[in-house]
Amino acid sequence: MLAESATAPHMMGMIPAAAAAPARPAVTRLALTDFRSYASARLAADDRPVVLTGPNGAGKTNLLEALSFLAPGRGMRRARLAEIDRRAPAGAAGAWTVAATVATPQGPVQIGTGRDATSDSGERRLLRIDGAVAKSQAALAEYLSLVWLTPQMDRLFLEGSAPRRRFLDRLVYGFDPAHAARVAAYEQAMRERARLLRDGPADAAWLQALEQRMAEHGIAVAAARREVTARLDAACRAAEGPFPAARLELTGEVERWLEEKPALAAEEELRLRLAAARRLDGESGTTTVGPHRGDLTVSHGGTGMAAAQCSTGEQKALLIAVLLAQARLQTALRGMAPVMLLDEVTAHLDAQRRAALFAEIAGLGAQAWLTGTDPGLFAELERSAQFFGVADGAIAPL
Ligand SMILES: Nc1ncnc2c1ncn2[C@@H]1O[C@H](COP(=O)(O)OP(=O)(O)O)[C@@H](O)[C@H]1O
Ligand SMILES: [Mg+2]
Repeated sequence: MLAESATAPHMMGMIPAAAAAPARPAVTRLALTDFRSYASARLAADDRPVVLTGPNGAGKTNLLEALSFLAPGRGMRRARLAEIDRRAPAGAAGAWTVAATVATPQGPVQIGTGRDATSDSGERRLLRIDGAVAKSQAALAEYLSLVWLTPQMDRLFLEGSAPRRRFLDRLVYGFDPAHAARVAAYEQAMRERARLLRDGPADAAWLQALEQRMAEHGIAVAAARREVTARLDAACRAAEGPFPAARLELTGEVERWLEEKPALAAEEELRLRLAAARRLDGESGTTTVGPHRGDLTVSHGGTGMAAAQCSTGEQKALLIAVLLAQARLQTALRGMAPVMLLDEVTAHLDAQRRAALFAEIAGLGAQAWLTGTDPGLFAELERSAQFFGVADGAIAPL
């Protein structure tokens, strides 16, 4: 554990350098059953970008959400899994499933996932890779990684810091799939400590062990977030074109320690601070210090304006700039472009930025999935993308 957290700041150096030609993992087949508005739907694609158009409520976002289950976690909407089961007018439908073929440099991989209705909570997700049950969702990272931008994220800079940390954590997974397990371990130890402090009388040795775990995982989490934030900031600064140069900074108390001292010393400091805060934390029911208080602070490089003060369109452009930087970095460092799910992104973009986004996607060689109501907004992609219409629970090539 100590060794792991101590080396975390250098984790990206441990990722093997990109192979000769960057690979372009792409979803080439998708089949949904009882997934929200879809009773049963299929789509076959090649590795080019995909444009999905159709009226409001047609099922475009549902389709992107289904794709988002090809990454670890709760999907793009963070919905309860049972909520996704199709609510059929004539009685309940079964548990949802998503099956996909992903083209990878090693050849095609079959991924199957869905809700396990037989589990106790009914909220467990089954995952099969090439027919074999996967022990952990983290196994998906070997074949593809996903990034997404949704209309809900229009509020990312306006509300609390938790969604921003989650956004950043997803970007970190793109480089280091083990990050997810570290975040989960930290949060679990934090919950356990809060419960002990609340319910008392607390066992001192048990508390100490939990705080030790929080310190180790917590500093590793903060260090990984810091490293990715710095790399993205540099990549955004180096970018050319009409997207604003997003400036990114990881702010917070623990995060600042990592600027001033080595990871091991920061770990020790967090452990001491947690031990000293037991009474206060017990009374307030919170955890005063730790990476769960950190924040991703974004501003507009051109104007210096904080993202929250930028216009809606500028905020969208900042987020797109960050995702494009992520895709470029991932391609350079891992030799693998992420599959990009871009839900209604063209809505807030002017014509120049729209064209630039399409050109970037084409240049990256990433399979992007773009949605919109009006096919006309994607005219520049006519030759380089494949177009599908979504209507009445079905997906058809246009
Ligand atoms: N569990 C569900 N069962 C059946 N229909 C659902 C379920 N969840 C959402 N829907 C329906 O799916 C429809 C399409 O949603 P969405 O994909 O968001 O449309 P859009 O094409 O505008 O992105 C909505 O009308 C919504 O009511
Ligand atoms: Mg939608």
